[in-house]
Amino acid sequence: MEMIEVRNLKKEYRIAKKSTGMMGSLKHLIMPQYETLEAVKGISFRINEGESAAFLGSNGAGKSTTIKMLTGIMKPSDGTVRIMGKDPFLNRIENARRIGVVFGQKSQLWWDIPVIESFRLLKNIYGIPEEQYNRNMEKFGEILGLHDFLSQPARKLSLGQRVRADLAASLLHEPPILFLDEPTIGVDVAAKQKIYEFLRETNREKKTTILLTSHDMKDLESICQRLIILEKGKILFDDTIDKLLKKYGGEMSLEEIIIRLFEYDVLV
Ligand SMILES: Nc1ncnc2c1ncn2[C@@H]1O[C@H](COP(=O)(O)OP(=O)(O)OP(=O)(O)O)[C@@H](O)[C@H]1O
Ligand SMILES: [Mg+2]
Repeated sequence: MEMIEVRNLKKEYRIAKKSTGMMGSLKHLIMPQYETLEAVKGISFRINEGESAAFLGSNGAGKSTTIKMLTGIMKPSDGTVRIMGKDPFLNRIENARRIGVVFGQKSQLWWDIPVIESFRLLKNIYGIPEEQYNRNMEKFGEILGLHDFLSQPARKLSLGQRVRADLAASLLHEPPILFLDEPTIGVDVAAKQKIYEFLRETNREKKTTILLTSHDMKDLESICQRLIILEKGKILFDDTIDKLLKKYGGEMSLEEIIIRLFEYDVLV
């Protein structure tokens, strides 16, 4: 089954055009001028049930913008997105049941209440049955090592602890699709391994479709079968990591291959 379908997706931002210096600021106040920035320039791809795919690309390539449009947070400027056949922006509530979202840079948890209370709130919001909630809490608690800080408010957690709590929160309602934007930012090596194992297991056991962005090549290799390289708002490469390794591999690691591909500009 097709879980994610993206056709000719575009996003333009209107950004302030400002000259430098005091005069520039004054001029902007009196007569603001804007220009258009094309962050995503008409991309298309499809992701099937159970697939795990990664977006890779430089800073500002358009990865987070794309994830925001796929999760229904942001309205596309043009093109279409279908999440299990539905427009995520127009069906936000329905869509929220089908997806789990983690933004490594920004927590989805309530900042001032104990993490466990955030989980209980999510249980009520999603109407998660008691049995499912307990089963997941036990499993996530163990694999992600949440027990040490469940009673702490999110604002008191370290970055890595917070990301782990966010990951558990995104999967409590067992969504068929999981979006992760830089899920291992600030996470130590041991915790990363746990996260990889957890995501691989979720993908394998529940056939959860995963789409993540990361700058960490280990993340991509450990979790994903498919790689989508995005640069300046365009897709430069979309195929399996296996094929890439077979084609260019030999002695080279995935990281080395990617560096070479960029260097010699041979991506298609
Ligand atoms: N809210 C916004 N308003 C205006 N411009 C934006 C906004 N969000 C992002 N941009 C611009 O759009 C482009 C794409 O940004 P985006 O955050 O999607 O990149 P990214 O691939 O996620 O980068 P990174 O690897 O740094 O997270 C950048 O040039 C950025 O400056
Ligand atoms: Mg980003």
